[in-house]
Amino acid sequence: MNQPFFTASLLHGGDYNPEQWLDQPDILEKDIEYFKKASINTVTLGVFSWAVLEPEEGRYEFQWLETILSRLYKNGISTILATPSGARPKWLADKYPEVLRMDEKRRRALFGGRHNHCFTSPVYREKVKAVNTELARRLGPHPDVILWHISNEYSGECHCPLCQEQFRQWLKKKYQTVSRLNACWCTTFWSHKYQSFDQIESPSSLGEHELHALSLDWKRFITDQTLDFMRWEIDALRAVGSQKPVTTNFMYDFTGLNYYKFRQDLAVVSWDNYPAWHKKAEIETALDCGFQHDLMRSIQGRPFLLMESCPSAANWPPVSKLKKPGMLALSSLQAVAHGSDSVLYFQLRQSRGASEKFHGAVIDHYGGEDTRVFQEVCALGRTLTMLQETAGSSLKKEAALICDIESRWAMEAAQGPRNEKLPYKEVVQGFYNAVRSFGIHTDIIDMEASLDGYRLLIAPMQYLFRCRIQDRLAEFVKQGGTLIMTFWSGIVDEYDRCYLGSSPNGLVPVLGLRFAEIDSLYDHEKNSLVPSSQTGPEAAPPFIRSYSCHSLCELVRLTDAKPLLVYGDDFYAGQPAVTWNSYGLGEAYYVCAAPEPDFYQDLISGIVPRLFPDRPVPVVPHGVEVTLRENEKGQYLFLQNFNRTETAIEIDWPFDACLCGSLCEKDSKKVIKPFDTVVLKKGKERADG
Ligand code: GLA
Ligand code: ZN
Repeated sequence: MNQPFFTASLLHGGDYNPEQWLDQPDILEKDIEYFKKASINTVTLGVFSWAVLEPEEGRYEFQWLETILSRLYKNGISTILATPSGARPKWLADKYPEVLRMDEKRRRALFGGRHNHCFTSPVYREKVKAVNTELARRLGPHPDVILWHISNEYSGECHCPLCQEQFRQWLKKKYQTVSRLNACWCTTFWSHKYQSFDQIESPSSLGEHELHALSLDWKRFITDQTLDFMRWEIDALRAVGSQKPVTTNFMYDFTGLNYYKFRQDLAVVSWDNYPAWHKKAEIETALDCGFQHDLMRSIQGRPFLLMESCPSAANWPPVSKLKKPGMLALSSLQAVAHGSDSVLYFQLRQSRGASEKFHGAVIDHYGGEDTRVFQEVCALGRTLTMLQETAGSSLKKEAALICDIESRWAMEAAQGPRNEKLPYKEVVQGFYNAVRSFGIHTDIIDMEASLDGYRLLIAPMQYLFRCRIQDRLAEFVKQGGTLIMTFWSGIVDEYDRCYLGSSPNGLVPVLGLRFAEIDSLYDHEKNSLVPSSQTGPEAAPPFIRSYSCHSLCELVRLTDAKPLLVYGDDFYAGQPAVTWNSYGLGEAYYVCAAPEPDFYQDLISGIVPRLFPDRPVPVVPHGVEVTLRENEKGQYLFLQNFNRTETAIEIDWPFDACLCGSLCEKDSKKVIKPFDTVVLKKGKERADG
């Protein structure tokens, strides 16, 4: 187990590529001057520097990096040092073509791009080990290297013969015998039975691609193989004595890997956030980002790092929209509010050519400090200095959404009941937004996570059950917890085989119902959820209006549950659509269809205030985000206004100091300015009392 990464103050800075400017020492000098003006205390070096570090096989040139690192250090700037495996030098690809990936059609790639090497190739591994060893030997001991940044945005898959063989070994280890594999994969279907492990091939559009259990295991294998590669990289650093903490940078809503499997190996989770601001109402984008921040925090249940973000506009989206004044600080501080101990950018100095020459940067091609972006970065640097003491503080466990990636893989690969526009993200975000509108911390957890400490659990469309989640959910409710589960949950086991008997598997007594059928609606169709004529139990939220619903409508048979809403239309009009059941000391809700957004808000309004009566902001105004971080020094209440107008807010929380932003008095009400972040502090003694 890795020791958690610790930083005494919030990190500010980002990716820096001095190797692109080695022939212009004046520029490198200037950079340091600018960094200091912007209160930049950390840079990430070496992310794509392999060709400069090892220009020819076995010949290393590290002097430039040592010089820059030392100069930064003398100026009070720490380094996050990357291993360079994210992009390989040309000599490597030319001499050893096996390092190049093969796609699912078994075509070998040419040299180019990045993030496209075979994770299995012994040659690639050897070469990575050699350069990492050299890096750790020469720069690892440097006092100012605070963290290893392992590779960059691991992703993708390779179908080369080496990977095929590795996959077969992985399967052998998992299933032991081929007959067990056949049974678990249901290969009798279409006569796809295997006689030996050697016959197995990775999924391909040219071959096997409808055997869902194979596809699911392939995805699991890709995660394990990537993880194994990362461990290989880390081992190379450890072998020459570097014990420095490690991270690797994750991506937004990335479904190629099960990030939760990395939790034990990293000292800290970090990720790269590139939202499209100003495309829709800012609060909607903020909630989407908030969800990802919360996911990253939940992987280890402790602070994370915002490893990359754009100081202005990214250049890869279809439209490169500038951030409006104030948005840089607001969005960066949102990461901090949700548990980040850093605000780091991609990148510090804009590259002159190649594919990212128009990607936003702290210092642009103009090269001066009198730019709007640079001035905003400086102001944010000052704010982060004022918030230093929040570094390392945590967020209390309150509610959690179970969003298991293995379940999502299986559900999205399955054929039926809806092969297009499965409303998974919409349903998950619908619940998330509603819970967050009360300022309740919402962890995003997988099925391996402990459920202890939560009062509310939401399991939206959790199609595949693993790790005996059904038993642990039953226990959670029995002990007094509140569970909300939706349609299309507990349908298949971990091998993607449908459960026989009643589903959601193992939860019929808890939910008081069982699955009967599921209707998929055409895009132009809607149904409705209307209040049930039976009066609901007192504990359940009273619904007084109807809601529309779409996509999927599950029909259930009640055993004990009470209907709160019933379907309004079609042959199942009058049948239960939203139900409530009491079980042990707790209660369980079941939502049978994908509803319109207001439904989530109304359901949650009937539950959250009861479960969390003491909230610092009893009524969170629309467009405002509220979070609370705490440490041994005190509690920090973050209030962020994503509205373009000033917003009145009432706070029921005595505080000792305002660390940043301002709450103005207007008509005897407190108001928060547009795009402002206010951080209030309650000292430790008061927080205890
Ligand atoms: C990713 C990469 C960076 C850079 C940025 C641009 O996050 O890690 O190297 O390409 O995207 O947005
Ligand atoms: Zn391969």
